[in-house]
Formats: sequence, C-alpha cells, structure tokens
Amino acid sequence: MSEEDNADVQLEARLREQEYFRPSAEFVGQANATDPAIHDEVGEFPDGFERYAELLDWDEHWDQTFDGSNPPFFEWFVGGKLNASYNCVDRHLDERKNQTALLWEGSDGEQENITYQDLYRRVNETAAALRSVGVEEDDVVTIHLPMVPALPITMLACARIGAPHSVVFAGFSAQALAERVDSADSEYVVTIDGYYRRGEFLDHIEKADEGVAEADNDPEVLTWYRHDEPNAEVSDDYVPVDDLLDEHKHETVEPVARDAEDPLFLMYTSGTTGKPKGCQHRTGGYLAYAAATSKNVLDIEPEDTYWCAADIGWITGHSYIVYGPLALGTTSVMYEDTPDYPHKGRIWEIAERYDVDIFHTSPTAVRMFMKWGEEYPEEYDFDFRHMTTVGEPIQPEAWLWYYKHIGDEDAVIVDTWWQTETGGHLITNLPALDDMKPGSAGKACPGIEPALVDDSGEKLPAASGQAGNLIIEQPWPSMLQTVYGNDERFISTYWGDFSDTDSDDWRDWNYKAGDGAVQAQDGYWRVLGRLDDVMNVAGHRLGTMELESAVSEVQSVAEAAVAAREDTQKGEVPDVYAVVREGVDPTDEVRQEIVAAVEDEIGKFARPANVMFVDDLPKTRSGKIMRRILENISNDEGLGNTTTLRDPSVPEDIREQVQAD
Ligand code: WTA
Repeated sequence: MSEEDNADVQLEARLREQEYFRPSAEFVGQANATDPAIHDEVGEFPDGFERYAELLDWDEHWDQTFDGSNPPFFEWFVGGKLNASYNCVDRHLDERKNQTALLWEGSDGEQENITYQDLYRRVNETAAALRSVGVEEDDVVTIHLPMVPALPITMLACARIGAPHSVVFAGFSAQALAERVDSADSEYVVTIDGYYRRGEFLDHIEKADEGVAEADNDPEVLTWYRHDEPNAEVSDDYVPVDDLLDEHKHETVEPVARDAEDPLFLMYTSGTTGKPKGCQHRTGGYLAYAAATSKNVLDIEPEDTYWCAADIGWITGHSYIVYGPLALGTTSVMYEDTPDYPHKGRIWEIAERYDVDIFHTSPTAVRMFMKWGEEYPEEYDFDFRHMTTVGEPIQPEAWLWYYKHIGDEDAVIVDTWWQTETGGHLITNLPALDDMKPGSAGKACPGIEPALVDDSGEKLPAASGQAGNLIIEQPWPSMLQTVYGNDERFISTYWGDFSDTDSDDWRDWNYKAGDGAVQAQDGYWRVLGRLDDVMNVAGHRLGTMELESAVSEVQSVAEAAVAAREDTQKGEVPDVYAVVREGVDPTDEVRQEIVAAVEDEIGKFARPANVMFVDDLPKTRSGKIMRRILENISNDEGLGNTTTLRDPSVPEDIREQVQAD
C-alpha cells in the first residue's frame, strides 16, 4: 500500500467505533452454532475441517484430510469420492422428497414449487440430455442463463455427470461470453431464448448467436425456452433442451463418483489484467465448506425458507443459493426480475408470501431500499430471523437501517467477507456466538487465519487497529485450486507477493486477498476495499484494465484510463478518462461509442458513469498511468503526491477540464 493509500485507510479506521448489538435470546436458543468450542475444534488444522466434510455423503472416505506437499496447490480430503448433485438432491429424498427445494417466483408473479422429488427428476433428465449430445466427464459446460429454474437444474445436471460448469452471469455481453467459452476450452453453451426484465421479455439468445460467432471455439448450443414455445428467433443449429428432455423422460443417470479434488466448476472473475480469471473450484472441499458455512453462519435448517436475493451467475449464488442450501436440504427462493418491478415493495411482498425466514442481500440493495423508504417494507408482514450482507463494506448507517426497518431490531445480521476465490465465507461472525458491530465483518470463521502485512510483507501486530494488506495464512477447503489453465497466474496473483515461493512448506505460503483491512482491538475485522485495480460496482467486481481494454476498442480513442468514483448508491462507479486521437473531435458521439464499447465487451451493468475527454493522462516517468490520481479527481479529493509524474501539470489540467465539463 502506498503511503497515501495508507493514510486514507488509517483515517477511515479511526472512524468512530460502533456499539455492539446482541442477538436475541430467541435466536440464540435455536441457532446451529452455539458452542464457542467450534473455533478450537475446527481450528485444529487440518483435521478440524473433517467435521465439515462429514456433513456430506461420500462414496469413498478420504485417506488424507490435507496435502500441503506441493504449495500452493493444496489438496483436500484426498482419495475421497463424492457427487455434488447426489449431495444436493438424491440424499434428501428419503426424508423430504415432497419438501420444496427451489421456490421460484417469476417476473409477473408466476410461481414454481420444485420439490426435491421434482428436482431429482429434472436434474436426471437434464443430465441424460447433456450426455445425449456428447457431454462427457470433465468437459466444461458454459451456462449463460438468467434467474430461472433451468439454471440450478443445469448446474446440478453437470455436477451429476462430472462436467464442470462455467456459469456466465446473464448480464454479460456476447463478447464476454465468447471470451469465457474460449478461455475454458468449452464445447457446450447452454442458454435460453429470453427472460423478463422489468416485465418486458428480453431476447437473450442473440447473445449466444453473436458470442458463438465471435468465439474461436465452435461450441454446440443447447437452449431452454422460457415458455413452452420460443419467444425469440432460435437458430436451427441449436438443440432445444425441451426436445431432449422429451426423449429422455423418466431416465435416471447414476451420479458419477468424483474425486474430491476433481473440479466442480469454474467461475470467471475480474482481476488486475484485461482478461478475467477462471477460478477453479474443487468438488469435495468446496461443497463441504459451502454446506458448513450455510449451516453455521447463515443458520440454515432444512425446515427454513431461505432467500438469497443474489444472482446465481456470481459466486454468492453458487455457494449460497445452490450448493450450500441444497446440500443442507432447505428451501431456497429464486426471483427472476428486479426488486422494483412492478413496484418497490416487490421484495417484501415475496418475503411475506413465502414466509421467508432468512434473507440475504448486498449493501447496494440495502442502500437502495433505504433510499426508497421504510414505507415499502412496512406494508408487508414478514419476519426474518436472520439477515446477511455480502459483497462490499456496509456503512453503519445502512446497517442500522437494515436492522431496524427490515430486521425489526430482532433479526441477527451477519456481514460476510469472502471472494470468488475463497468459495465461502472467511470473515464473519457466527451469529449466536458474537455480538454484531455495524460496519465490521466480524471475526474470522473457524479454522481461518487472516492477518495483515505491510507492503514489504512485514506482519502487523494482531488487533492493532492499523490498516494493511489482508492475507490468509492457512489453507482452507474451499479455496480455489488454480486459475483455469494458468498455474503461473494463480501463483503470481495470489501468492507471489507475500509468500516464500521457494519454500515447499505450506506454512510459508500466504494467500493475498487484494483487500485492505484493519483489525480492531476486539478482534473484529473491517474490510476497507480493494487495493488493486479492481472496483466494486453495486457488488459486481470489475477490473479497471478490463474496462480500459473495452474503451480502447473505440477507433477514435488514443488512450484511456478508468477510475472508480464513489457513489452513494452503487458503492463505486467507473469514470472513463479518454484521450482522443489527433484530428478527432471529442464529441458526444465518441462518448456514446465508448459507452457502447463497454456494454458490448462486458455488459450493460458495467456502463461508465462519466466519460471525460482529457488532453493527457497522468503518468510516471516510466509511463505507468497513475489511476490513483484520477480517482482523487473523480472523488473531488486533493491530487495527492504528483512528484513522481513525468509531467506534474497534467493532473491540474485534467481537474480543470473535468470541472469545466
Ligand atoms: C469485496 C463476493 C467488505 C472485497 C463474495 C472482496 C467485501 C470482493 C465483503 C470479492 C464484505 C466482499 N465487506 N468487502 N462483507 N464481501 N467484499 O469475488 O473487496 O465478487 O475482495 O465475491 O468484494 O468480490 P467477489
């Protein structure tokens, strides 16, 4: 962290300490994790994590809990065999085949109640359908589906036959889809004709058309239909899933016994380079950790109705809509459309209708609900026992509003810090064991060893209140296995900076999270945000380099940089600073081309908030763009240290230009 960054975070860290809130006796009385010994028990490294694996059904027991002999390629539950689809579906049939597994609410109030028995049938038939077109064990299947039941069903069908899935968030563009298909060497794409956004049918399959044309690979496309018949133009080359399902009615497919270390899925995420990374997750350790944290942190019981209002296209949905909750045999709610369609009380209407017990959302959503006002939730009769936030730091003000107006000062809140790479929660309270503190993620999860280091890798004293780089010192079962097809990138991104990479002792390897954090005297962690060129837009992770490479596709642009502007609603939004080519007029048209390029390359959700035309960008003498200075300009802060710049007058000029705009 530079001195300047450090000063910033130190300042934030000095913000007033918040008071604690106790969980209610009623909550504690019924909670899953109530014995503080859990920290010591799970913390017995590595055997403590066996109790997580024991939550699952294994075809073969593991021989070794942890193999750290080839760091950082750690292995978990080595020699064990299991199937994730079996664990999320089949094993619940004896006890609760008629219980709802997925409770889906469509845009206009359409409902589907998918029992475990229904899910079993549909996953089996879909698995048979996938096999019939040639999908084999270890083939990567790219799934580009929105929030419809076909999404978890396809994921579980893949898991059943041992084909790792790579779900691409539906909001990603055709280009982004193509890039992920190629990067994962995927020969299959599963899509749908369309879905509903704000009540309107949105043609989704056109992204597959364009994406497949763009991709170097020539994947086979399978398509679901949102209704009985297609509502958009579907190419004759695509295979309708419904036809396959008809052909494979009543078929069952034996779940493939996967090695614990066989990959379950890939999830692409933004990093500091232009290309997203395919985080590869293993079957055994991932599922064990997702199930255990669903139980201990989210406090899920099979009898609950649990609603994580995230999108399955991101890691939160993978771990905490699909795999964790279904491994525990609970009822998981899914909703197709946006929270304000057709009215701003939609979320609370659904919560009331299904009597949701546990609710999970992002700080961005909380800020939005807060802005809309408490009159919306007040109109509905719902009663949450437990609430979660994830994805960004939550400001105490938003936390308090959530607690009061949504939780009725009675529901517990867990603020969960984790990442696509970590597979599951790493820092958050176990809700019956630790009091809540607004704005703090809380304590480390059992068996997780976070620490802070300065930029030279020197460890900061524990609980010092000083800000530093967040690292995790000890492996855990759901950590990513590698970056798909790129072990070197895996090592350089996550381990290079703060590990002794020559050592073959796992204790010398520290996982770098890329976040800045502080640990207060009470041991509570506050995560302050990314220290690298990754921004967090409404809880969506975006790389500035990814945005910049999209902008540079525009012919008229000579050079561009992207900086994060703080936004009261979305947390951060991207500002583009662009230099146009000689002889080009920086017109509104160019501005629109830039916006369109970002939408095309990434997706509409990544749309820049502002496009600013400038004469030059601030650069160091070696030519590195100083985004930090642009960020200061975007956020109306002092310019900071400009002495290392090749031309220190540049930022002043930019500031004037921007303010004149
Ligand atoms: C941020 C989402 C503060 C953080 C599960 C992290 C958080 C990135 C929190 C990962 C939290 C996530 N408090 N910051 N509770 N949760 N973050 O991969 O910067 O989409 O590195 O995973 O989100 O985002 P990702």
